[in-house]
Amino acid sequence: MEKKYSSLIQTLKVKLEACKTENELLKIKSDFLGKNGLITKEFSTILDAEDKKYTGQQLNLLKNQADSLITESSAKIQNLLVSDNAIDVSLPGRNISEGTRHPISITINQISNIMRGYGFRVEQGNEIETEFYNFEALNIPFNHPARDMHDTFYVDTKKLLRTHTSSVQIHSMIKSGAPLKIIAPGKVYRCDSDPTHSPMFHQLEGLYIDKDINFCHLKGILEKFIIDYFQKEIETRFRPSYFPFTEPSAELDIKFRGKWLEVLGCGMVHENVLKNVGINPKKYSGFAFGLGIERFAMLKFDIRDLRSFYENDLSFLKQFRGVS
Ligand code: DAH
Repeated sequence: MEKKYSSLIQTLKVKLEACKTENELLKIKSDFLGKNGLITKEFSTILDAEDKKYTGQQLNLLKNQADSLITESSAKIQNLLVSDNAIDVSLPGRNISEGTRHPISITINQISNIMRGYGFRVEQGNEIETEFYNFEALNIPFNHPARDMHDTFYVDTKKLLRTHTSSVQIHSMIKSGAPLKIIAPGKVYRCDSDPTHSPMFHQLEGLYIDKDINFCHLKGILEKFIIDYFQKEIETRFRPSYFPFTEPSAELDIKFRGKWLEVLGCGMVHENVLKNVGINPKKYSGFAFGLGIERFAMLKFDIRDLRSFYENDLSFLKQFRGVS
């Protein structure tokens, strides 16, 4: 009898030795210890109470031995799976590379934060506009030569990609009326493409309408803005200019590395524009300005080529890590 038992254990050992997977192991377990398993079946050979004492004890020993052999094999198989199977717990963790804000977004945020501090609300406009919002309401009639500078992409005969953020002035004034104090950053489009011009670029528009607003308010806010943006004293000058939607109009130049540089257009909102949106020019006046985001970003971060903004070159973009 004992011989039979030891040969059963022997067979079990051979099978376990060859066993490589958990499924195989489960099958072996059931073949030996399951309901109709080889060892289980031996229990039915017990003859009587007397025999039970001896054979029963032997069989229990046999069962326990088989059990612990199977448990041992299970541990071995688990180890095999870990070392064999792709899971290398000693591998270093995978890096999740952290993105950075784009310098254009950084600049829009910085300017917007400064302007919010002066009480301006940020408005979002549409990139597709009608001629009314982009031109007519801004006092640029169909035959006006200023339209030449704003040559653009027409989506259909009536709709076009806005050439400036000034169109948001019209939306805001029609929607909210006066008084009004808004800025509007966003993309604008023109038929321009060379090293210093891109067919898509970014502007930020400002508009302040209230009672008794005059050119001193315009100068005061913009001079303060230049200092707050560049975080140092910078010499500025207002040069007379022309825009159809402002009268008088000016361009703001800053002294940068010894040279005068034009950085934005501005002026007192033309009374025709106020009339076009139903605001009484006898009661309200205001100023507006429009600046190029790329220009402001290039000056602050010392970027020399406009195209760097749009090339998605990671070594360029990574330099802005941590800047907000
Ligand atoms: N819209 C003008 C442009 O794209 C910029 C500008 C000039 C905006 C004067 C203004 C302004 O609001 O008052 O060239």
